[in-house]
Amino acid sequence: MRDEMNWGQVQRHCAALVPERDAEMRTMETHAKETSFPIVGPAAGQLCYQIARMVRARRVFELGSGYGYSTAWFARAVRENGGGEVHHVVWDEDLSARARKHVARLGFNGIVRFQVSEAVEALARAEGLFDLIFNDIEKERYPDSLAVIEGKLRPGGVLIVDNALWHGRVFERADRSEATRGVRELTRRLAEDPAWITSLVPIRDGLLVAMRR
Ligand SMILES: C[S@@+](CC[C@H](N)C(=O)[O-])C[C@H]1O[C@@H](n2cnc3c(N)ncnc32)[C@H](O)[C@@H]1O
Repeated sequence: MRDEMNWGQVQRHCAALVPERDAEMRTMETHAKETSFPIVGPAAGQLCYQIARMVRARRVFELGSGYGYSTAWFARAVRENGGGEVHHVVWDEDLSARARKHVARLGFNGIVRFQVSEAVEALARAEGLFDLIFNDIEKERYPDSLAVIEGKLRPGGVLIVDNALWHGRVFERADRSEATRGVRELTRRLAEDPAWITSLVPIRDGLLVAMRR
């Protein structure tokens, strides 16, 4: 029976469990479909929201934020946790401006802080420690981002990394591209380092969920 399970069917089943979203979130999802923009999508968004609620995150830092879809899931969790801040960082001025509009329409203005910058550099400059860090930057940079993340996550804090399956490329032995090697290396380092407790959750393109001991 397990062999008969179909990947698309499993993913659709997971997505169907996500409760109805705000119309603005639906608009963002439709835009992603129409333009093939790689947002995390509802099932991974719901998991991010759930984890942020579980660790009672009040300070969240996003690396590579796009037009604010994943940001909105974290902002909702932070608001329900009693308030705090979610750092939206992307190096594209236009995406940052679009994110501001969506975030305002969703009513998360007081929570989200916007920065147009290379994301790892922005994290290195940020003050204080974070409860949760979400990494969705270019995959080539995944390994180098880890040292900065380790210095900015509180003990017991959670790192979530998107694209851990990298559309199946992590399984293709012949794929030695920098991006695929970046995903493989970050995965291996988080899984092997006893300072982290790590699982790969195969929702959508795979999320690494790692808790800092
Ligand atoms: C995969 S998309 C983000 C999707 C977003 N997490 C969501 O689910 O709504 C990644 C975005 O971050 C930008 N980006 C990639 N690497 C970056 C970096 N090192 N610094 C800043 N922005 C980066 C990309 O240009 C792209 O717009």
